[in-house]
Amino acid sequence: MRVGIPKEIGANETRVAVTPETTAKMVKVGFSVSVESGAGSISSYSDKEFVSAGAKIESDAASLYAASDVVLKVRKPAPEEINLLKSGSILVAFLQPFSDPGLVKALTEKKITAFSMDLVPRISRAQKLDALSSQSNVAGYKSVILAANTLGTMMPLMMTAAGTVTPAKVFVIGAGVAGLQAIATARRLGAVVEAFDTRPVVQEQVESLGAKFVSHKAAGGEDKKGYATELSADEQRIESELLAKHVKGADIVITTAQVPGKPAPRLITEEMVQAMKHGSVIVDLAAEAGGNCALTQVGKEVIHGGVRILGPLNLAGQMPRQSSQLYARNIFYFLMEMAKEGNVTIDLANPVLKESLVTKDGQINLPSLNK
Ligand code: NAI
Repeated sequence: MRVGIPKEIGANETRVAVTPETTAKMVKVGFSVSVESGAGSISSYSDKEFVSAGAKIESDAASLYAASDVVLKVRKPAPEEINLLKSGSILVAFLQPFSDPGLVKALTEKKITAFSMDLVPRISRAQKLDALSSQSNVAGYKSVILAANTLGTMMPLMMTAAGTVTPAKVFVIGAGVAGLQAIATARRLGAVVEAFDTRPVVQEQVESLGAKFVSHKAAGGEDKKGYATELSADEQRIESELLAKHVKGADIVITTAQVPGKPAPRLITEEMVQAMKHGSVIVDLAAEAGGNCALTQVGKEVIHGGVRILGPLNLAGQMPRQSSQLYARNIFYFLMEMAKEGNVTIDLANPVLKESLVTKDGQINLPSLNK
């Protein structure tokens, strides 16, 4: 069976779904691998390295898709890519199907067996396939590097002959995968770090990284998958009062708060920004989901009263070599869930395959899109 890896064509997409390392692994377990010429060039993987790992290079997207029984991608396919997919082929990518019913319909019509990496269940057994976590980790790290670079002051405490330089204060809102990595990175740079999350269960994790967990009376809940649930109006008011105090004292605020299936909660108001110190920085990792800060503009830097608010797009993609390396391993392990001697068998008793399946045999597999 031939696995194909096209060059990503989405705006701002720098990553690639397979690296030479995972190409060699796929070849070893019996797959043939084709890579579109230049697919890894932005993430620093050359055609030559893919060939050395055992891949065949296809000169363009049309020949790549025509040759591929299984297509591995980062981003969901654009309409022109769906046209190129072979009817009956398998597609694995970040499809975000709940926000794109049109895509799901097109994949159904083309009889594509489509799996979405963002639907892989976050169970212990599937940790090595968890692409949401691997990419959030990179984004959390990069958010602090970006903030530190924008801040214009040093991060650690420094004792110099000319006197002491005080450390930067970093406040992280949302201590999920990205938030915890942001805390760890800011601590490594020497900042004094505080963090807040509506899930009290993360307090121990925050403290184990050397940060202070900001406590609150409005403890929110989490669903059975461990995700935050939406706060009531009363809880939101209590949270807002608490955040106002801590945002005001911070040099850097990193926001990562998300509630699955909902727009990102709006946590930092214009008034809170106005109360911040001149020169302080907000990095809003929830920008693409609507933003945690009222002033965030997706993909832009806004300066408001001397505060710089960054709403970066695809932050993981700003470190494409390593984000591709991690994603490629995630997607390789996903493929292994169905691999059998260079072929694939889709066993829907396997919860990883069952929960991430979007379309198969012209049918939609997602209950809420089937209504
Ligand atoms: P996410 O991207 O959905 O949300 C980020 C963080 O924002 C979460 O910690 C959430 O509690 C927090 N948040 C939501 N509303 C907020 C508000 N109003 N104010 C402050 N914070 C707010 O989360 P992520 O990083 O994708 O992780 C979600 C869950 O998945 C976590 O509970 C984690 O334990 C679990 N998980 C499990 C894994 C496994 O067992 N394999 C792997 C990775 C994550």
